[in-house]
Amino acid sequence: MILTKICLFILHSSIICTFAPEKNNSNMYYLADTANIKEIEKLLRYFPLQGVTTNPTILATENRKLSKILPELANLMDGKMLHVQMISEKAERMVDEAKKYREITADKCDFYAKIPITEEGFRAIPMLKKAGFKVTATAIFTHQQALVAARAGANFVAPYVNRLDNISSHGIEVVSHIVKSFNDFKLPTKVLAASFKTVDQVHRVSLTGCYSATISYELLERLRSHPMTDTSVETFLKDGKNLYDIPF
Ligand code: E4P
Repeated sequence: MILTKICLFILHSSIICTFAPEKNNSNMYYLADTANIKEIEKLLRYFPLQGVTTNPTILATENRKLSKILPELANLMDGKMLHVQMISEKAERMVDEAKKYREITADKCDFYAKIPITEEGFRAIPMLKKAGFKVTATAIFTHQQALVAARAGANFVAPYVNRLDNISSHGIEVVSHIVKSFNDFKLPTKVLAASFKTVDQVHRVSLTGCYSATISYELLERLRSHPMTDTSVETFLKDGKNLYDIPF
């Protein structure tokens, strides 16, 4: 009898472990918010990047057509995430657009259809999911927009931290409420915090337990480096120069 109870307890615990929902704060992935090929190539050499995000404004900065840039981005990703924003305004056209981009990027990247959450965007999310797409709901400014997008089936929601801070709102607080609710309600949707202008914003967003953040090249460079690291390394080199005598 006791043995049966122990076996049932072990079985119950292992079922709970197997099906326990992954907490939203189980990762802090860095993505590059750029479509500049040189920047991405450079980052891929040393930065533990999980992917790249684009939007029409980022493409405008590059002043290059999507038909040229999309295959190049996909080739660079080598299976990593590529979040490409749709520009269509009607849900049906967003699906057509996503199908075309998926065809172009083929199996070279982990493709996400990035959908601004207009009324049509919300309509498009379940349609895209039905068609087998992963979806990133973007241009999110409130906790409720994120929750509704999650309920609609989005894989990621992208709240805009700096744009919120710039309208006298609180980007970090919005992200923190979203993360809390996704965890409380055990929603599988992840947070991809976006729109950063300072390292401090990234620092504070990480402390919310946010799953991931997409950050410009310039800011990624700033957050991974420190002048004291450089001067420390200079001193190490100078001090060890004549002492490190083991051949390798
Ligand atoms: C990414 O998905 C967003 O489009 C982007 O981070 C917006 O950033 P911005 O506010 O710097 O334009």
